[in-house]
Amino acid sequence: MSRTKRKLDHINHALSSKIVNTNGLEDITFVHQSFPETSLNSISIESEYNILKLGAPLFINAMTGGGGKATEGINAQLAEIANSLHIPIAVGSQMAALKDNSQRASYEIVRKNNPRGLVFANVGSEATIDEALACVEMLEADALQIHMNTIQELVMPEGDRDFKGALSHIGKIVEKLHIPVIVKEVGFGMSRETAEKLLENGVECLDTGGKGGTNFSLIENARREKQLPFFDEWGISTAASLVEVKAAGVPHIAASGGIKTSEDIAKAIALGGDMCGMAGQVLKWLQQSGQQAAHENLENVLSELKIIMTALGAKNISELQRVPLIISGDTYHWLQERGNS
Ligand code: FNR
Repeated sequence: MSRTKRKLDHINHALSSKIVNTNGLEDITFVHQSFPETSLNSISIESEYNILKLGAPLFINAMTGGGGKATEGINAQLAEIANSLHIPIAVGSQMAALKDNSQRASYEIVRKNNPRGLVFANVGSEATIDEALACVEMLEADALQIHMNTIQELVMPEGDRDFKGALSHIGKIVEKLHIPVIVKEVGFGMSRETAEKLLENGVECLDTGGKGGTNFSLIENARREKQLPFFDEWGISTAASLVEVKAAGVPHIAASGGIKTSEDIAKAIALGGDMCGMAGQVLKWLQQSGQQAAHENLENVLSELKIIMTALGAKNISELQRVPLIISGDTYHWLQERGNS
């Protein structure tokens, strides 16, 4: 199976995949306040993630590139959206461009269409230090994402089977780079133990990539003959993962995995996220309704976020991170069991 075909398969399956897990954010309830002492037009949603300054606590998460003109077209449109909304955008894994120079354009278009905005480069943990540096340079990137996708690899017939040494290798990449290095999951969530190990290896920026949105077990199972169905419900929900990595003391937390609405974003930030990543939902809006609709939907999500913050009495993102909330249902049960209540 060619790499290009796989990239296109991922997009098509991500668009058609059914949802079998929730992100856990339905278990979070805000505590209503009758005297919020706020006004809608004084709400600020400007945010910070490590040294990065964001117009809003939202970014378009890593999806594509490396699949020729089709993926170049998607990245071109996503980058224009990110540029006009002043939000960061990540590209999909750039390993394809390292192996085949002709694929570079499908990534470089993101910097071209978003010349002054924040762009995140993306590699797997197998990238050498020089390869990671080359990917950052390719995009003049402001941060590097390193994806951890063990389950996806195991379900992929042609995937990796050896996961030894990744942690210390990531530590070496962090040491060498002078921009934030964000270690991310791709929809199976991160535990407290994972976060602690990353912190020990010098990683201070994580993306939870929790369960409840795009499901790479379903996507890869749909592409193979002999299924591994036990991975379809595997993982830590986005809500539980946020509490776990916060408890580990991670200083810079990106919340992602099934983020679709303003309410999801508000809750994920209240649980400790500094910014939220959206992948599958943006792809759906773009592919099913077009660039203008995707832009308008994201803009709407951000104006609704301000309305929610007004009701909660949270004038800015750091106040939203401290609003009282109630955790119930499966997420409550999970956190009790894990001693995180
Ligand atoms: C992804 N994702 C991803 N992540 C990554 O680090 N490198 C990659 O190349 C890709 N490729 C990719 C392709 C497609 C089509 C999708 C939908 C997603 C994972 C993505 O960044 C994110 O972690 C997960 O999709 C979970 O977020 P959502 O989709 O539930 O918002």
